[in-house]
Amino acid sequence: QNLQKKFPENFLWGGATAANQLEGAYKEGGKGLSIMDVIPGGKKRLEIIRNPDFDFEIHDDKYTYPNHEGIDFYHTYKEDIALFAEMGFKCYRLSIAWSRIFPQGDETEPNEEGLKFYDNVFDECLKYGIEPVVTISHYEMPLNLAVKYGGWKNRKLVEFFKRYADTVLERYYKKVKYWMTFNEINSAFFIPLFSQGFVRKNTETSEQEIYQGLHHQFLASSLAVKKGHELDKNLRVGCMIIYGTSYSYDSNPANQWANLEESRMFNNFCADVQVRGKYPSYIKKVFKAENIKLDIQPGDLELIRDYPADYIGFSYYMSAVRAADPGNLEKTNGNLLSAIKNPFLKASDWGWEIDPTGLKIALNELYDRYQVPLFVVENGLGAHDILEEGNKINDDYRIQYMRDHIEAMAEAVESGVDLMGYTSWGCIDLVSASTGEMAKRYGFIYVDIDDEGKGTGKRFPKKSFYWYKKVIETNGEEI
Ligand code: BG6
Repeated sequence: QNLQKKFPENFLWGGATAANQLEGAYKEGGKGLSIMDVIPGGKKRLEIIRNPDFDFEIHDDKYTYPNHEGIDFYHTYKEDIALFAEMGFKCYRLSIAWSRIFPQGDETEPNEEGLKFYDNVFDECLKYGIEPVVTISHYEMPLNLAVKYGGWKNRKLVEFFKRYADTVLERYYKKVKYWMTFNEINSAFFIPLFSQGFVRKNTETSEQEIYQGLHHQFLASSLAVKKGHELDKNLRVGCMIIYGTSYSYDSNPANQWANLEESRMFNNFCADVQVRGKYPSYIKKVFKAENIKLDIQPGDLELIRDYPADYIGFSYYMSAVRAADPGNLEKTNGNLLSAIKNPFLKASDWGWEIDPTGLKIALNELYDRYQVPLFVVENGLGAHDILEEGNKINDDYRIQYMRDHIEAMAEAVESGVDLMGYTSWGCIDLVSASTGEMAKRYGFIYVDIDDEGKGTGKRFPKKSFYWYKKVIETNGEEI
């Protein structure tokens, strides 16, 4: 299909991954355990970690841990990056495993072997002219910080993160221009273990802990922006949120209001602080209603004000329907945002409702509100792929999904949205974050490994691989 719309020159086309979901080698190179290393694989993963009795231990007798081996990127990164280069990637979004650099999180000296690994990875990208886009923390804090310090609710984490972020910024700033501080920072509201390193217990203080944790993350993020700009004023240090475009169930004003309140909290609160540089006025009412009293120390608000994020990176997978009293209304099955079923949308094999127009709305809403560059750093379709004869994978459904979402982005650009780039999620098959499965595949590149870790590990380009290559080659004109 020929799209009669133009993406900006230098548009950053690429793909995205996270260390814990593909590197494997979970104990190699001096790496310490991260929280992801103790989270079992399987569809019940989120249920297991939401149980207040979750014990942060590995139970090999009871569970499998696909993240331990991932797709072995730690050893195959050269071949994998060569495949990205073959597709013509302009950029590659990846994360640094904090526990490779500071294995326990609270050391004073970094682990040189870990630092060297990412030097090699970045050099390999740059060899092909691929710009690395780095997430400093993507759901993989050193386990010790969660167990010993209780994760982000503890202000000491700001100091530990600063040491880690300063170390990687100083080491790589000449190789890496684009950075993001915390992956999906607002996911703290529904998976605080992933993003904040603690279990959401059913106690009166849980909301308090989440907001306090967020406050510490806001400080840590601003410190990284500050450091980045000190090293090189051209470095771009962004925030990263999960955006679930939100619709009211109907035109009932009560539902409209409920939708506005929920959407504002979930989609906007973090970016309001991180981009506009201050706590939004509406949060006072929320804090009052939930009896939240933040420990804000002298200098905190100034730091947040003076060092806002340079751009907004965001993931977009699905939209959400909200109502004042969702009680009896049918919910979507599997939708992370636990929303009401949308009768106008079809869903993926995992129940994630597919809504490209929602992406256009997201881009417009975000740009209207913040007027800073946007970067779609995650989007894609997790599906059951079939390896056919001759090692072919005919993933036309993925091509359709991406075509529709790219078209939505093009329309947003036409409306004046400043969009920096697009990195589709899981450009090479990797372990799913919410279910720990390999079976939920997103890639342009098939990896022959199953949920039990069995398979040859071989890589096979899918049909979408050749399609995306063309998209990049034509700067999005031929989709
Ligand atoms: C995002 C995360 O929420 O969605 C990724 O940043 C994750 O880490 C992606 O993999 C897709 O989710 P899932 O659960 O299908 O892997």
